[in-house]
Amino acid sequence: MIEIRNVTKSYGNNGNRLIALNNVSATIDDGEFVGIIGFSGAGKSTLIRQLSLIEQPDEGTIYLDDVDLFQLRGKELLAMRRQLGIVFQGYQLLQQKNVFDNIAFPLELTHTPKDVIEKKVLDLLQLVGIQDKAQAYPSQLSGGQKQRVAIARALASSPKILLCDEPTSSLDGVTTKSILDLLKEIHRKTQLTIIIITHELSVIRSVCDRVIVMDEGHFVEQGDVDVVFNTPSHPTTIDLLAHHVEAL
Ligand SMILES: Nc1ncnc2c1ncn2[C@@H]1O[C@H](COP(=O)(O)OP(=O)(O)OP(=O)(O)O)[C@@H](O)[C@H]1O
Ligand SMILES: [Mg+2]
Repeated sequence: MIEIRNVTKSYGNNGNRLIALNNVSATIDDGEFVGIIGFSGAGKSTLIRQLSLIEQPDEGTIYLDDVDLFQLRGKELLAMRRQLGIVFQGYQLLQQKNVFDNIAFPLELTHTPKDVIEKKVLDLLQLVGIQDKAQAYPSQLSGGQKQRVAIARALASSPKILLCDEPTSSLDGVTTKSILDLLKEIHRKTQLTIIIITHELSVIRSVCDRVIVMDEGHFVEQGDVDVVFNTPSHPTTIDLLAHHVEAL
């Protein structure tokens, strides 16, 4: 279970301070598929940066299974980082390494035995449906294939949580659907907790259990996807839905 407790994060100095997360709290149960929505600048990526230990909140904290993420140091911190898989919009693959080696990379960092790496990477290639691309380099892949590699790499260290920041926003409609179907399938097979940021509300509706609506650093509404989408109560949610009518 993830508990986000009164997290505040600001950027800039006193004269020019921007509060990107303003005292936000939420609880996410194991195995939930949660969508984060909100207009540009709402603080969605900032939230993912705190959840993935890329940044540290100014105030408040986040617990994963009762462990305070921001009290961890050294080996424990590294071990926790491996529990958190991250997928970004821009893939962030290593261009000089082929697909197999990109996926193997997190396992090599932890000195995993070669035969274990080989089996794991082959399993992951199969899971994400790109077995035939193991020897290809990122420059030889389509956007959808690159995102499949990035998802496989994020899963390599068997994380408890998969964090996705706009994983499909560089992709066309058909490819977007195939990547979301993949995430849905991974969720079904592994019961991993998945948190996804996307501007495509139809995506949230088709894959998520729960949605958190953000506005100006606040969680303004959260709940069951069907309830929030059918009976939105906050003006921001109503606005977001009104802007996406055609997509629903
Ligand atoms: N490193 C930073 N330094 C200064 N300001 C930042 C930094 N990162 C984010 N911000 C500001 O914090 C606010 C929230 O940014 P964030 O990237 O979390 O928004 P977002 O909801 O992900 O938006 P988008 O949908 O456009 O990706 C924005 O006003 C942004 O300009
Ligand atoms: Mg963002």
